[in-house]
Amino acid sequence: MCGIVGYIGHREAYPIILKGLKRLEYRGYDSAGIALFDGTDIKLSKTKGKVDDLQDKIEREMPTNGNLGIGHTRWATHGVPNDVNSHPHYSNSGDLVIIHNGIIENYESLKKELIKRGYTFKSDTDTEVLVNLIEDVKKNENTKLGKAVQIALNQVVGAYAIAVFDKHKPNEIVVARLGSPLAIGIGEDEFFIASDASPFIEYTKNAIYLEDEEMAVVRRNKGVKVRKIKDDSLVDPYVQELQLNLEQIEKGGYEHFMLKEIYEQPSAILDTFRGRMRPNEGIIKMAGIEDNMKTFLNANRIIVVACGTSWHAGLVSEYIFEDLARIPVEVEYASEFRYRNPVITDKDVVIAISQSGETADTLAAIKLAKSRGAFVFGVCNVVGSSIARETDAGAYTHAGPEIGVASTKAFTTQITVLTLIALRLARAKGTISSSEFRHHMIELELIPEKVKRALESDAYVKTIADIYKNASNFLYLGRGYNFPVALEGALKLKEISYIHAEGYPAAEMKHGPIALIDENMPIVVIATKKGHYEKVVSNIQEIKSRKGKIIGIVTEGDEQVRALADHVIEVPETIESLTPLLTTIPLQLLSYHIALMLGKNVDQPRNLAKAVTVE
Ligand code: AGP
Ligand code: GLU
Repeated sequence: MCGIVGYIGHREAYPIILKGLKRLEYRGYDSAGIALFDGTDIKLSKTKGKVDDLQDKIEREMPTNGNLGIGHTRWATHGVPNDVNSHPHYSNSGDLVIIHNGIIENYESLKKELIKRGYTFKSDTDTEVLVNLIEDVKKNENTKLGKAVQIALNQVVGAYAIAVFDKHKPNEIVVARLGSPLAIGIGEDEFFIASDASPFIEYTKNAIYLEDEEMAVVRRNKGVKVRKIKDDSLVDPYVQELQLNLEQIEKGGYEHFMLKEIYEQPSAILDTFRGRMRPNEGIIKMAGIEDNMKTFLNANRIIVVACGTSWHAGLVSEYIFEDLARIPVEVEYASEFRYRNPVITDKDVVIAISQSGETADTLAAIKLAKSRGAFVFGVCNVVGSSIARETDAGAYTHAGPEIGVASTKAFTTQITVLTLIALRLARAKGTISSSEFRHHMIELELIPEKVKRALESDAYVKTIADIYKNASNFLYLGRGYNFPVALEGALKLKEISYIHAEGYPAAEMKHGPIALIDENMPIVVIATKKGHYEKVVSNIQEIKSRKGKIIGIVTEGDEQVRALADHVIEVPETIESLTPLLTTIPLQLLSYHIALMLGKNVDQPRNLAKAVTVE
């Protein structure tokens, strides 16, 4: 999720906020806006597009005086990128103005209640609901802004980093965080608010990083009061002296965006299913599916079109859809599909998967499918992207911007969305029982913590990378749900280390690839307990007898593969259909460390673009 910046102090706020938003551009965004208090009233300007566009607009139409202000770069989740949906957002009275990173899951029910109380809304965002909820509480409780925010946030379900101020109380900004980062820079009689320290590191190295479920009232000349949102109790904040430089801050302290994004997967997966499933109530709810349920249920088949990593996610979905929902699926490279004159009818549902939403081949495949009567559903990570706009309906991954060219969190969040869709359709078709349905949701809810545990193997994976970094070929083997993960692992290695690697179904080895195996060939074998385990073990024995070097990806506690393989990397146990979300983690880390040891440009590998917008 994108960027927030705020300033309250003795200097002009505008130049500080504008520069701060530019510092946050690396996070990727689709719109930007600034609100300033000029001593009498709030002035606000916002636009779809870049911070430079915002600057042009402001310097054309808005005075920029004032020493209190907030600014925002938006990564849209609710409401397409346009001027109206950009932040900041006013409350109905115009007294309050807010900026927000994150997702308010229960915004629809809150909005309904506020409309009943006479509130109106200009935008489609969840954020505008929040600022009017705060206003409503402030009026009804006749309380200060800080208390109103605290009460309002106890009614909110979701993730947020917010900054809000009241034009009648221009000596304070109220901030709060849950699930999205927020830092407060402590200067000499001035305070800075930001998603990370990059907007204020040049002014001060002293910062408070709010913890989840904390809020703060930042008062000019009076300082920062931190409280717990739950019970309003005071917190003694830890003011740290930052040692990071600008570049380190942009990467969240990680050496590369790719590593940062690998480590963001627990929160990215959580953000992707957040608000879309309630295991205890046995509910999965995604508007794009509910509104088109009949089309899905009457479909003869699902055709998945995608490229690269997204195509691998599509392959995983073939197993999920056919296994759970019993819907025939075929997975097509978009670049092939668009030219092979495919048979498409209006009884086909096409699912187009794309992180960027701009891949030319996938866009062309969509247009072809639509021209022949198919219903097209998009799974994208960029709201309002070309593919998102071209498809008939869709569901976004909420991975946040993916900067590294090698897709990591895009892959796991795509699988998350596709799993939710398959489960919802399976339940609607009655191909799984309500208890199986709940069980899958409960297991999915546990995945973020299990991904965190899988990440703990990082240091050990690095030792394996060091042993095999000079190999000239790798084989990646997997069966069932993990065959696509083998393909994805091979792609990750190829695209950032430039070492040749191939992924195969484990059983396919004896139809040729086994001839390649000797003591110089590292073979990564995904051998989790769920999914043809015994068969994979016999494949491992075949490899061992040919002196191949075996790196096993195994379920925690596995002793059988441990006895056969040269190395085993453990991942937590989960149900078979969710194993890809865990087995891919060590493969991402292995590729990252090998590429780094070989001195490659991990974030921008040679010859590659983040979005392949040309054929
Ligand atoms: C994978 O790491 C690459 N970045 C590439 O294969 C990518 O998945 C492919 O170009 C598709 O991109 P998209 O998901 O944005 O459509
Ligand atoms: N959910 C809010 C919106 O869609 C905030 C998105 C963000 O994090 O930038 O406007």
